[in-house]
Amino acid sequence: MLRSIREAIPKRGLPAIAVRPEEGRFLQALAAACQARLAVEIGTLGGYSAVWIARGMLADGRLITLEREAAHARVAEDHLQLAGLSDQVEVRVGNAHDLLPGLTELGPFDFVFIDAEKQGYLDYLEWSLSNLRPGGIIAAHNAFRGGRVVDPDITADALEISREFNRRLANDPRLIASVFPAGDGTAFAILRA
Ligand code: SAH
Ligand code: DHB
Ligand code: MG
Repeated sequence: MLRSIREAIPKRGLPAIAVRPEEGRFLQALAAACQARLAVEIGTLGGYSAVWIARGMLADGRLITLEREAAHARVAEDHLQLAGLSDQVEVRVGNAHDLLPGLTELGPFDFVFIDAEKQGYLDYLEWSLSNLRPGGIIAAHNAFRGGRVVDPDITADALEISREFNRRLANDPRLIASVFPAGDGTAFAILRA
């Protein structure tokens, strides 16, 4: 099921940028470790990481996943239905920056996965820290940006944001943070209870 969902994403014309299987397993493990009942994903694509996360959550858990592109959301809905997760996972279509304020009233959240446009990561982090319960977990994909975060010759704005995001996780005394180094790196942080 997971393999066929991942393979279907480029076949249906979406970019082949879903997390890798080992990264998905890690997200599932994080969701299980914090016994997630309420989670948000920022950047759905074809629903591949959403299936991993939902499968790590409590049986009565609810994942809300945010996607700007309606065409991506349609593919994700199909995949969530195939995986039998339509009741647990809700895809909301729109710009995450506009949708997140409306989620606050549902919180606090147990788990947040950030994987949308990299320029937005500092805003997504700020929202997450304000809407996570103590003991909750934040994960963020593309910590390495293909290795470019450690290339001092590259100073593009979006890379500076990735660097600042990683530094904030590492230096915030409220957090216990590290990077899972498979694939493109998943930064993660546990909000101290
Ligand atoms: N998490 C997915 C991959 C996400 S790829 C997986 O691993 O399976 C990034 C997705 O974020 C794309 O589908 C893109 O359309 C979406 N996206 C980018 N900027 C966004 C924004 N501001 N709000 C919501 N979605 C956004
Ligand atoms: C891109 C985005 C991602 O989340 C990713 O994992 C790989 C590439 C991109 O926008 O190019
Ligand atoms: Mg990514």
